[in-house]
Amino acid sequence: MGVKGTIDNLFKPVRLGAFDMRNRIVMSPMTRSRAGVGDVPTELHAEYYRQRASAGLIVTEGTQPSPAGKGYCRTPGIYSVAQVDRWRQVAEAVHGEGGLIVVQLMHCGRIASHINKDDDSEIVAPSAVRAKARIFTDTQQLVDIDAPRELATDEVPVVVAEYRQAATNAREAGLDGVELHASSGYLPMQFLSSNTNLRTDRYGGSVGNRIRFVMEVLEAMGDAIGFDRIGLRVCPGYQYNDIHDENPEETYGLLLDEASKLGLAYLHLVRRSFPKLDNFELVKAHWRGKLILNNELTRESAIGAIHSGAADAVSFGRPFIGNPDLVARLRRGVSLADYDKSLTYTPGPHGYTDYPTAT
Ligand SMILES: Cc1cc2nc3c(=O)[nH]c(=O)nc-3n(C[C@H](O)[C@H](O)[C@H](O)COP(=O)(O)O)c2cc1C
Repeated sequence: MGVKGTIDNLFKPVRLGAFDMRNRIVMSPMTRSRAGVGDVPTELHAEYYRQRASAGLIVTEGTQPSPAGKGYCRTPGIYSVAQVDRWRQVAEAVHGEGGLIVVQLMHCGRIASHINKDDDSEIVAPSAVRAKARIFTDTQQLVDIDAPRELATDEVPVVVAEYRQAATNAREAGLDGVELHASSGYLPMQFLSSNTNLRTDRYGGSVGNRIRFVMEVLEAMGDAIGFDRIGLRVCPGYQYNDIHDENPEETYGLLLDEASKLGLAYLHLVRRSFPKLDNFELVKAHWRGKLILNNELTRESAIGAIHSGAADAVSFGRPFIGNPDLVARLRRGVSLADYDKSLTYTPGPHGYTDYPTAT
């Protein structure tokens, strides 16, 4: 096959579950910390995602399913009426451009400071193990992460129900589905990992027990909105946010075996290679379903990943910040613009909705 035919593969339609994508390029979820009062998305969100709607699929920034799920400053929620109303505008803006958009559900669990949360909102986790890490706050800059409170056994289904309601809310807002954020050391990964899950009930101890929370969340959300509208994001072996699992091959092997049976829309893998683990090899051995591949892809490696059949779709994060027309630029081989890192998490349109297109 010639070079042109190979490039074209990236722009061929693909179906992941219920998502009929017009190309194989996914916008990776990126926290941009621009929610307004009440953790409500603003009109800028609608404009930001509208500008990037030529992606085959947009995965939004991490969004808390409940007030307790919030860890960082100015991240949006999807539990209040005002939030759902604004997400509806985001969905309409993206659909108006012919795009598709799912909301990424991010419950930070123990990765939080009370400074970033409502006064009455707690920091909860599988176990009361404080993360040795720091987090940004608007008023005090970087602070130590707080100690979490361990969830009681009968509180875990309540958290599962919050995810279920958030998925229902997403559909009510007209969003196309949800992605479960089970990477980067947040709540789902805290249940999965041996250094953050010291529980002795049905949610801890054996691997089967440690994957139970993620499975229950997926099952609850799938029951509410259909499994073919749900994606799962993982990065086995990743130690970001002071997380460590003694045996990621075993943990994620079982998780992916079990999750493969659900008929999810896709698995979103942040590919990383560690001294003892290439997590892509792990996924190849255990995941039976569509795959979106992420992390530091270039035009060439993205084309290669689709051409070789390694992935069904590819996702780009940072390149989408400064290149709202990333898809057109990749298609034409136009050079990519950098973005201003000092404006990554700052409120307002600057460094958010004011990046120009190539033409
Ligand atoms: C500013 C920024 C915010 C991010 N926020 C999230 C997030 O909310 N949820 C998530 O799963 N990943 C998040 N990520 C990770 C990206 O989705 C992606 O995995 C990472 O940037 C690697 O892809 P890239 O090399 O194409 O940028 C974030 C990355 C960046 C740069």
